[in-house]
Amino acid sequence: MKQAPTIKAALYMKMVTLCALVTASVLMVNQTAFAIELSKQQNQPVPAGEKPVDPYVQSNDNAGATPMTDDTVYHQFGGMDGISRIVDDLIDLSSKDERIEGIFRATDLVRLRRTLKEQICYILGGPCDYTGRDMKESHKTHGITMMEYNALIELLQVAMEKEGVAFRAQNKLLAKLAPMYRDIVLR
Ligand code: HEM
Repeated sequence: MKQAPTIKAALYMKMVTLCALVTASVLMVNQTAFAIELSKQQNQPVPAGEKPVDPYVQSNDNAGATPMTDDTVYHQFGGMDGISRIVDDLIDLSSKDERIEGIFRATDLVRLRRTLKEQICYILGGPCDYTGRDMKESHKTHGITMMEYNALIELLQVAMEKEGVAFRAQNKLLAKLAPMYRDIVLR
């Protein structure tokens, strides 16, 4: 009977210690997660010739579409060489097309070429990771209309045709890109 308060006090102390330990581990886990997140955002050296962009978390999820299950279509596009020519062509055409050239005037085309090539390579099932921003973030300041969106897709078709990509393979890429209009077209 006399020991009861001592036992209670001991139990209380144990509880306090346990709570402190749990809190400390939660804080440590949070801190580690925060540090990892921060390093993902900060460890982005600016590739040669490109302008820096605001920090963001790099992930293939930013590509806006799931990749093809194998690399058949990637090879039908001529692999990275074919994709590279198509993207270069698309950007050149877009920069000259009176319907949309204004949107590209102040753009870092070096970065756009690199990230668009990565994105298409990744979506077509090629050996690439997409390191750019997601579609919403990338286009949010440009106020792109449906007409402008369609103009770019039309130019992409011209570029794929010029590269000699089979019609069915072209359509496979277009089907992957089509739902992205929701994040790109804002007015
Ligand atoms: C499905 C269609 C489209 C895809 C897959 C696409 C893809 C991309 C990618 C990968 C980037 C670079 C992201 C980054 O810098 O991290 C980007 C940026 C950009 N896109 Fe698109 N895009 C599409 C449609 C359009 C359209 C329709 C326009 C205009 C007519 C457009 C104009 C731009 C511009 C101006 C940038 C540069 C953004 C900036 O740095 O502020 N895009 N796009």
